[in-house]
Amino acid sequence: MITNKENTNKENLIMELNKIIDIRSDTVTKPTDDMRQVIANAIVGDDVWGDDPTVNELQNMLCELSGKEAALFVPSGTMSNQIAIASATNSGDEIICESQAHIVRYEAGAPGFISRVNTKQISTTDGRLDLNAIIEEIRPLNLHYPLTKMICLENTHNYLGGRILPLDYIKEVESIAKEHKIHLHCDGARLWNASAATGISIKDYSEPFDSVSLCLSKGLGAPIGSVLVGSNEFISKAKRFRKILGGGMRQVGIIASAGIYAIKEHFKLLPVDHNNAKIFAQILSKSNQIEIDLNKVETNIVFFSYPIKLDQEKLINTLKQKNILIGAAGKNSLRAVFHLQVNEEEAIFAGNQIVETIKELMN
Ligand SMILES: Cc1ncc(COP(=O)(O)O)c(C=O)c1O
Repeated sequence: MITNKENTNKENLIMELNKIIDIRSDTVTKPTDDMRQVIANAIVGDDVWGDDPTVNELQNMLCELSGKEAALFVPSGTMSNQIAIASATNSGDEIICESQAHIVRYEAGAPGFISRVNTKQISTTDGRLDLNAIIEEIRPLNLHYPLTKMICLENTHNYLGGRILPLDYIKEVESIAKEHKIHLHCDGARLWNASAATGISIKDYSEPFDSVSLCLSKGLGAPIGSVLVGSNEFISKAKRFRKILGGGMRQVGIIASAGIYAIKEHFKLLPVDHNNAKIFAQILSKSNQIEIDLNKVETNIVFFSYPIKLDQEKLINTLKQKNILIGAAGKNSLRAVFHLQVNEEEAIFAGNQIVETIKELMN
């Protein structure tokens, strides 16, 4: 057990080291020295021609992990999702998704801009779209209506706090999608976290979906890249859209190698991030000025609220002066995300500093 004195010593050490604790996102990780070695030694070829052995190895690895026939390495999670939408729809169609889904909230209007589709958004508190609401939103065939061509689920759900979708729930959505012949896509940017937290394999989580997008540059800590998986037919269509969007890259084994390394070496470390998120959340929950629901902390993302009269910019800037970088998540809420480059002591330090800072600013 860590005593208060030991904690204070560690906190002093963190302050002396002047280390910046960046919990704005798990996208902020930088390649480790070992990863950089792997990058330096990567064997490469022209991937637009399918000639890059390292990209092919990564894609094969993802086929194996997800149980899907084919995989496509792309520069970002956004491109992966948007290529999936473009491949499953036609201009004027409609897709059903959660109202805070990354594809609608943070992809700059891309479904409308790239694929020219409508989004039918269903609000939830945990990422689980109500099954009856999905059925109600599927358009009947009628010349006045668009065609419903895709249902998109996000697992884990970023903006709702890294919540995990239960496999049984996903299977229920799958039966609805199958019955209505609708493509089921998973934005699995953090499917790795769902898998690490539940012990359910990536394959089992992917099985109900027609396509899954998995990011290498979130909790896994690779600098760049995502992989879209699906059937051979779907991925060959996706490959064409990747080219259209300028995502066909040449000697890209350089970065695919970091993805392979990240899956081999960092996937297994995700439970550490989940544990740090819980420790951090527990510290915050002791403050009577902070509102946090510990039951909602399922993976590496923590949302919490503070008194509305506290100026958000001032809070974020004061924490910045204390070397803690954290992001806003609504009017009087912040979001903290734990990753490879924040250890347990730093998570404890950040938690205590946030509690203290809110107390100071409220006085
Ligand atoms: C759930 C989710 N999907 C997709 C993305 C997009 O990934 P990228 O930033 O690589 O475009 C993100 C980014 O944070 C995300 O959280």
